[in-house]
Amino acid sequence: MRTPLVAGNWKMHGNRASNRALLDAVVAGIAGLKAVECTVCVPFPYLGEVAATLASTPLTWGAQNLSEHKQGAYTGEVAAPMLADFGCKFVLVGHSERRQLYGETDAVVAAKFAAALTQGLTPILCLGETLAQREAGSTEEVVFGQLEAVFSMSRKEDFKGAVVAYEPVWAIGTGRTATPEQVQEVHSFLRTGLPQDTRLLYGGSVKKENAAALFALPDVDGGLIGGASLVAGDFIAIVKAAAEAAVARPQRKG
Ligand code: 13P
Repeated sequence: MRTPLVAGNWKMHGNRASNRALLDAVVAGIAGLKAVECTVCVPFPYLGEVAATLASTPLTWGAQNLSEHKQGAYTGEVAAPMLADFGCKFVLVGHSERRQLYGETDAVVAAKFAAALTQGLTPILCLGETLAQREAGSTEEVVFGQLEAVFSMSRKEDFKGAVVAYEPVWAIGTGRTATPEQVQEVHSFLRTGLPQDTRLLYGGSVKKENAAALFALPDVDGGLIGGASLVAGDFIAIVKAAAEAAVARPQRKG
């Protein structure tokens, strides 16, 4: 059984006061929702406070990046054991902003995925094509290549507990959501290459208005939410949409 997951990616937003207000509202807003798992991936400096705020709640927390190295002379980097030390459950790996703005190659992403697993963290592997790649008809080739790179360093079984997030680059922060047909097409393609219990999230301009249609798709197991995860009411509505989709389809098996 694949329990749906809704993960907020705060990106480089927030401050101590706004984080607290946001989390208090989200915790209250999703109280009692059992059919869905909810997490927030927050900037490194806030991990300690977020951990303290969420410790006795159903929400879990995670980071947005990690080093591929375990420790050492890597100024400015944050290692997987440090994230585990702060009780992180999840860590984003290979977000398109990391790939595009910070030059993370498929090989680095694969090493980060493996580093997360060594510490018991659940990697959320992000992959997706650019607009040019989609228009060139190479979407499947691109996402398959990104997945293959990780398979070359980790075993396929390692994906059992992992999460894969399909985030078309052209849909991130643009307000342009992939259509349900486009999402289902890529997800069903990815599904064939992954263990049945790997959760497959969609990310890219998920909003409260489109969440229900996306989460109703057979191969979508939740979402990775950027901008809307910063607005308590919107995020709560998206988590509720995932819970309702799960209840509507109890037959979904891992
Ligand atoms: P938006 O939801 O703001 O488009 O961001 C998606 C994303 O990048 C989540 O990781």
